[in-house]
Formats: sequence, C-alpha cells, structure tokens
Amino acid sequence: MTLEEVKLINLPKMLDDRGNLSFLEENDHIPFEIKRCYWIYDVPGGEIRGGHSYKINQEFIIALSGSFDVVLDDGRQMKKYSLNRSYYGLYVPNGIWRHIENFSTNSLGFIVSSVSFDENDYVRDHEQFISTKLKNQ
Ligand code: TYD
Repeated sequence: MTLEEVKLINLPKMLDDRGNLSFLEENDHIPFEIKRCYWIYDVPGGEIRGGHSYKINQEFIIALSGSFDVVLDDGRQMKKYSLNRSYYGLYVPNGIWRHIENFSTNSLGFIVSSVSFDENDYVRDHEQFISTKLKNQ
C-alpha cells in the first residue's frame, strides 16, 4: 500500500436548525466492513499517539471534536493530514506507518477499524516496517 490509496472522505451531512447530523455505513461511505470502533480523548498537550502500522487493519479516522494531525509514511514519502471537522475523515489502508499529533484541547478522535483488536497485527518497529516495504516493492 502507498499514500496513493489514502483518501479524505466526505460523509453525508444532514443540515438542520436543531443541529447537524452525519453518519457512515460500512462498504458505502467507507470501503470496508466495520469490526471495531475506538476513540482517543483527554490527550495531554504535546502528546503523540500511534507510531505504528497494521499488517491487515484498515482505518477511518474522524476528528469528532477539535483537531489533530495524522502523519502518514508509506516508506517512500510522508504526508500530513489535518483533521478538524466531524463530517469527513481519513481512510488509511493497511501497510501505512502513522502517528497522530498536535491534538487540540478536548479533541476527540474516533476511529473505525476493519479488524478486531489483535496486537499481532501491529508493526511497532519502524525499521522492520521499512525493510518489509522494501522487500515487497
Ligand atoms: P495503541 O493502538 O498502541 O494506541 P495508539 O496507537 O493510539 O498509541 O493502543 C494502546 C493500548 O490499548 C494497547 O495496550 C492496546 C490497547 N488497545 C486495545 O486493547 N483495543 C483496541 O481496540 C485498541 C485500539 C487498543
């Protein structure tokens, strides 16, 4: 996988004087079946989350509240996406190294995943990530 496969996806937005509503459905707005959701919150200023890639897991990352930056690396190039709205998100396929930084106060990151939690699906060593990428080129 490369950064070419990464994409920002706009979600439906039901504008309403009572307050807006957005939603997502598997295999429709996002290109995978949903196995898990998790969220990141109460991040102290200056902290960085992530710093790994997944062998199989694909993710869709939304800044439900506040803002943060998702920094991606496919072994060849790096790209930073700033997320700051609840009606779009970032699709990140498997095989991309990523970390999340620059969390605003009270930000809430919501992540939809294609696999159940499995520590064996993580690549947490960046050198190992790079050497696997080089082998697969
Ligand atoms: P981790 O994915 O390493 O966090 P981040 O990438 O944001 O820094 O997860 C932190 C801890 O939480 C780790 O011990 C694994 C555990 N965890 C679960 O048990 N289930 C989950 O769905 C997730 C995402 C993490």
